Amino acid sequence: MKKFVLGMATGLALAIVAAFAMGMGVLMYVEQGYVDPRADVPTSSFEKNRAMEALDAALDRYAPKSKDPIQPTASALSEGANLYGTYCAKCHGAMDKSETAWRVRLYPSAPQFPKNPTDMEEFENYYVIKHGVRWTGMPGWSGELSDDQIWTLVTYLNEMKKSAAPMQGMDHGAEPSNAGSAEKGVRK
Ligand code: HEC
Repeated sequence: MKKFVLGMATGLALAIVAAFAMGMGVLMYVEQGYVDPRADVPTSSFEKNRAMEALDAALDRYAPKSKDPIQPTASALSEGANLYGTYCAKCHGAMDKSETAWRVRLYPSAPQFPKNPTDMEEFENYYVIKHGVRWTGMPGWSGELSDDQIWTLVTYLNEMKKSAAPMQGMDHGAEPSNAGSAEKGVRK
């Protein structure tokens, strides 16, 4: 029994030393300048996957599961379209799906909603729009947009997901080849 306890204690001590050494190694890697600062290179899939996992886990932990209070009425959608055009289209893509430098030059690049609507839950979109995403180009809009405006944007993004049909007189064009999977299912 004594031997067993000693063995356990030694194992635990070794694990702590190894974890500490690993932590120091990562810190040194960062501090010695080995992290590539360039934004004009493709995002590695390792980085992309870890970042997505981290965001998903953080949203699970922090984002309150509130319900979107804004109904998709014609006036709400038209306000959503205006807000989207003013604040978001520059990075996330305009409804005509044209490209601008902002859309492709960010690291990580901004998802293009008119082509690939977001598949996150409404309350997750609300949280991301309100607070932004650290270490990416996604700004936090609290202070700039009211809660109602943010929910209006959530409602608008949701409609993008649902409707490949023209919305508010805007032409979505025919682009099934690279349209998002959420769009495909409901294309009439
Ligand atoms: C300066 C560029 C920029 C602007 C402006 C911007 N975003 Fe973003 N946004 C990003 C980037 C980059 C990401 C990706 C972040 C990541 O990889 O986690 C993002 C992510 C998101 C996401 C999460 C999408 C997903 O499926 O993971 C949502 C929702 C979103 N933005 C909504 C908006 C809305 C709504 C606006 C306008 C109010 C807006 N963004 C304005 C750059 C921008």
